[in-house]
Amino acid sequence: MQISIQRTAASRLNTIDFNDLPFGKIKSDHMFVADYYDGAWHDARIIAFDSISISPATSALHYGQAIFEGLKSHLNPFGVPLLFRPEQNSRRMNLSAERMCMPSLPEELFLEGLKKLIAIDKHWIPKDPAKSLYIRPFMFATDDSVGVRVSDSYTFIIFTSPVSPYYAQPLKIKVADKYVRSFDGGVGSVKAAGNYGASMFPTKEAYTEGYHQVMWMDGHEFKYIEETGTTNVFFVVGDKVMTPALDGNILDGVTRKSCIQLLKDKGIEVEQKRIDIHEIVAAYKQGILHDAFCTGTAASIAQIELFNYKEQDILLPPVATRRWSNYLNETLDAIKHGTVADTHGWIVEVNEQISVAG
Ligand SMILES: Cc1ncc(COP(=O)(O)O)c(C=O)c1O
Repeated sequence: MQISIQRTAASRLNTIDFNDLPFGKIKSDHMFVADYYDGAWHDARIIAFDSISISPATSALHYGQAIFEGLKSHLNPFGVPLLFRPEQNSRRMNLSAERMCMPSLPEELFLEGLKKLIAIDKHWIPKDPAKSLYIRPFMFATDDSVGVRVSDSYTFIIFTSPVSPYYAQPLKIKVADKYVRSFDGGVGSVKAAGNYGASMFPTKEAYTEGYHQVMWMDGHEFKYIEETGTTNVFFVVGDKVMTPALDGNILDGVTRKSCIQLLKDKGIEVEQKRIDIHEIVAAYKQGILHDAFCTGTAASIAQIELFNYKEQDILLPPVATRRWSNYLNETLDAIKHGTVADTHGWIVEVNEQISVAG
């Protein structure tokens, strides 16, 4: 599909203080938009980032047919924008779409629109390597009707936002004992907007108790660890690295699968299994819980300082001693910035030259 480009006549780039980038607040100049109706995607376009006008009856607002993705772009040392495994986001978005009865978006259109958008707004990618351009693709139902049924029309948008790191310090986590993020047969394994809305109350409660995030547990017994906040979670016990197996309730994180591969490259086979929290607490008591960390696009590798389980603080060793989370953090960061060899073909360079004048 042809993607039309209408550049903004009034770039906001010069008004932005790149030293002050609160996560997600600042939007770049352009967005990529496509509309779905009559059974097909239409009118793929890059236009100025702006508000959109929708009917109060827009079905996504009422029944939650809304899904999203998140990825980032960094500059390599030559100033070329890089994307990290963007096809994974496209595929995962289509899995989310299928579960939510929404149309799939062709991978080529996702990647073409994304690359053109990044090429046009490449000056919005922070030059400071600690910062990045966060990319938010999303799709929502647009039928102007409050009947509870599958919408016939949808809008897909990608916009971008220059950001600082998501977490500034190691995390204090509360192990959930009352609320669940997802349940068997639900939508925990996809990026449905409602998952995030539902997690806000328990997260707020944990926050008021002094924690940064919630460790989500299985909904039957609150015994098996699933995820942490909006990230996957890993533990290092003795010489073993482990992460909860994808059980249908856990999001299949791009960072998670990349960490598993990077550890495999070092000869470490990550155990993907049901992790009983008692096993982790026992390891702590034996002094062999060496590391616990969260993985995600926004957070990258976020080390856990402590987690609180049944009123007991499980304290992790000093961050500097943590071999694998530090290794993964440095290695992923270097791959994403193009400063080490990309041996797995994860990086997509954005070399598009966009010549259309606005
Ligand atoms: C619930 C949840 N788990 C895990 C992740 C990490 O996934 P990724 O590494 O693809 O960002 C995310 C973020 O997308 C998430 O929302």
